[in-house]
Amino acid sequence: MQVIEDIDILDEDLDAPKMTAAEAEGTRQVYLETYGCQMNVSDSEIVASVLRKNGFGLTHSQEEADVVLINTCAIRENAEQKVRRRLDHLRADKTKRHRDLTLGVLGCMAERLREKLLEQEQLVDLVVGPDAYRDLPRLLGEAEETGQAAVNVQLSKEETYADIAPVRYDTNGVSAFVSIMRGCDNMCAFCVVPFTRGRERSRPVTSILSEVSQLVEEGYKEVTVLGQNVNSYRYEDGGRAVDFPELLYRISQVSPELRIRYSTSHPKDCSDALLRVHREQHNICNYIHLPVQHGNTEVLDRMRRTYTREQYRQLIARARTICPGISFSTDIIAGFCGETEAQHEDTLSLMREVRYDHAYMFMYSERPNTYAARKYEDDVPEAVKKRRLSEIITLQRTISEEKNRTEIGAEHVVLVEGPSKRSDAQLCGRTDTNKMVVFDREDYTQGDYVRVRITDCTSATLMGEPLGPTTLAAEAGRLAVA
Ligand code: 5AD
Ligand code: SF4
Repeated sequence: MQVIEDIDILDEDLDAPKMTAAEAEGTRQVYLETYGCQMNVSDSEIVASVLRKNGFGLTHSQEEADVVLINTCAIRENAEQKVRRRLDHLRADKTKRHRDLTLGVLGCMAERLREKLLEQEQLVDLVVGPDAYRDLPRLLGEAEETGQAAVNVQLSKEETYADIAPVRYDTNGVSAFVSIMRGCDNMCAFCVVPFTRGRERSRPVTSILSEVSQLVEEGYKEVTVLGQNVNSYRYEDGGRAVDFPELLYRISQVSPELRIRYSTSHPKDCSDALLRVHREQHNICNYIHLPVQHGNTEVLDRMRRTYTREQYRQLIARARTICPGISFSTDIIAGFCGETEAQHEDTLSLMREVRYDHAYMFMYSERPNTYAARKYEDDVPEAVKKRRLSEIITLQRTISEEKNRTEIGAEHVVLVEGPSKRSDAQLCGRTDTNKMVVFDREDYTQGDYVRVRITDCTSATLMGEPLGPTTLAAEAGRLAVA
């Protein structure tokens, strides 16, 4: 990974295959590796479920696998390059060791590259797009029986996998993803997602609520509700439309001890009704990931983001009025087509005004067939893009650290996710506002809500001392009294 992108968490995720399979069952053993966004992690849980139901086993060991499936990301060029290197390696290993191994590509790259992966490059035996996972057992059978490559990259206007219960892997048993909608109709000029994941469609309310209830029964304490454009959720339920604020409200009623987050949202769909649900429901986190992408209105217009800098600023102000203390993270792109130095400065000044708690920052990379690729010239030199990105990263680090410093002395409710990375004697978990806190283990354990006083910080992490166990209901009561 390039140093300049070392706090680009999405790309860090790409470095470490997040998902391997759980205990082995069945005959043909499948090893599943996931790259990219949270949505892909959630999709891999669907894939695992489909495979297991159809008699395949799931293995943690790539060496033991008969089938290796890579769930891929196409959002930026370096994401694709990483997956290609991985495929080259697996292909070479298969040839060298004369292994009877079926190698498949799933997800966004499968959709984007289709036959190219099979025919021109002969890299894989199986190419399956994000709406075709139900067809995986048949395709695997076909590839293995005929020795010919099998492909299904059909996108669907309806598929939401609503009836498939995800098989949760590598789970901490505390926090789970629940996918509520798929696809995106926004067509931002830089983005390949509408092409790889197809049209927007929402999952039925009842199937979402029953999955959340099931998670609560299994002891989960937090759900992150997922969709490419999660807050444009809309489902016709018995002749009546349920929108995202109402869905979120209904999820919040499943259990008072379940924390709710969501990702990723579009500013155009961040309504007052949604902000009021944040304020009124104590278990909906006081945090929104609200990608701005750029700080200059003309660039936003060319990006086809549908809002101006001023409208975005007003939205942040409104959110802060309705939900005091709410925290924000964002996505920012440096070096989009035609970006001038003054326009880049506008991104920096917007960051100074909003003071995000956290940001995912990217250098623009042209994606084939997007509006930008067809209509604009990718004319900001690489060195300039890098320098602008590094200015953005440096500024965000300073802001994050300054904001974290103001937390010293404050008390937060932390949901314990597990041992801290550095030491087993310490635990880590996040605040309501999505900040990671590390503190001494004492007698606490995964899944506990702990009241913690912040004592120190870095730009990325808060350190604290535990004050005692708590519950979300008790905290809501405290706030009401205060
Ligand atoms: N180049 C750089 N960043 C991109 N993103 C999406 N497409 C591109 C691209 N072509 C970023 C956006 C989006 C995030 C998931 O990835 O910031 O919000
Ligand atoms: Fe891509 Fe824009 Fe849709 Fe997000 S909202 S997935 S950036 S097209």
